[in-house]
Amino acid sequence: MGFVDYEVEGAVGLVTINRPKALNALNSAVLDDLKAVIEGVDTKTVRCLIITGAGDKSFVAGADIGEMSTLTKAEGEAFGKKGNDLFLEIESFPIPVIAAVNGFALGGGNELAMSCDFRLASENAVFGQPEAGLGITPGFGGTQRLARLIGPGMAKQIIYTARNIKADEAKRIGLVNEVYPQAELIPAAKKLASIIAGNAPIAVRNCKKAINEGLAKNTTAEAVQVEEKLFGDCFESYGQKEGMANFLRKKDDPKKVKHVAFIDE
Ligand code: CAA
Repeated sequence: MGFVDYEVEGAVGLVTINRPKALNALNSAVLDDLKAVIEGVDTKTVRCLIITGAGDKSFVAGADIGEMSTLTKAEGEAFGKKGNDLFLEIESFPIPVIAAVNGFALGGGNELAMSCDFRLASENAVFGQPEAGLGITPGFGGTQRLARLIGPGMAKQIIYTARNIKADEAKRIGLVNEVYPQAELIPAAKKLASIIAGNAPIAVRNCKKAINEGLAKNTTAEAVQVEEKLFGDCFESYGQKEGMANFLRKKDDPKKVKHVAFIDE
């Protein structure tokens, strides 16, 4: 599909933003293609997604500055909404989405990575929100997700200064979970995605929903009610019955330990 490639390996889907001449910058066409690919993922058979950028230099170097340079106020707001709508879709996508950040993750690139469940990075990855230097605010959720992820003080420093940070600093402040040499990034992301894909599918989906929807609540009391519902929803599923039966079989006879192949539910 145009600017976005998609391939499936077992139960893991790999989405690659492919506009390397512009360091995978997000123009309207790339956003449209990404939306079409995401909406086309068969979440019955694919249980974890990875999003990365083509090439070894850039994940996504931001929203397309050429396209934005002539926008009016109303067009600017509409462009922000286009990105925000898509990134909200990724954030609440039913299966986990891992960002494999293989280089520049600037502006809209960092914002795309932050809409994923978590981020793995290559050693050459660079993160930042350069918008203040371009005369705009972050526009695809950066002011909100960065503050929620790393805390408002650190987010404000990064956004106000428009200063980029390297992968090791991104790890130190909790923006990325792990840093790998470039060649090991995608294999590591695939390995992690396969582990996730090997767990009970309804349980994994409900864990994602519980964390995301619970965090959006104002109080812990309200948030645990979200969890209660999703916890209850797991019961009577194949994953719950087989996962627990497997544990109980193990107790009787450790030799009976079998890896549960969770069917699609
Ligand atoms: N938009 C459009 N084109 C971009 C781009 C972007 N965000 N980032 C890079 N490109 C293009 C360059 O214009 C260049 O194209 P040409 O070869 O046609 O000139 C090509 O990609 C290669 O880039 P450079 O020659 O600049 O590569 P470099 O290695 O010297 O520098 C870089 C790399 C530091 C990432 C630099 O390209 C850069 O600073 N890019 C802009 C980063 C940025 O400011 N991103 C935020 C955008 S605003 C935003 O995202 C708003 C929002 O929240 C929605």
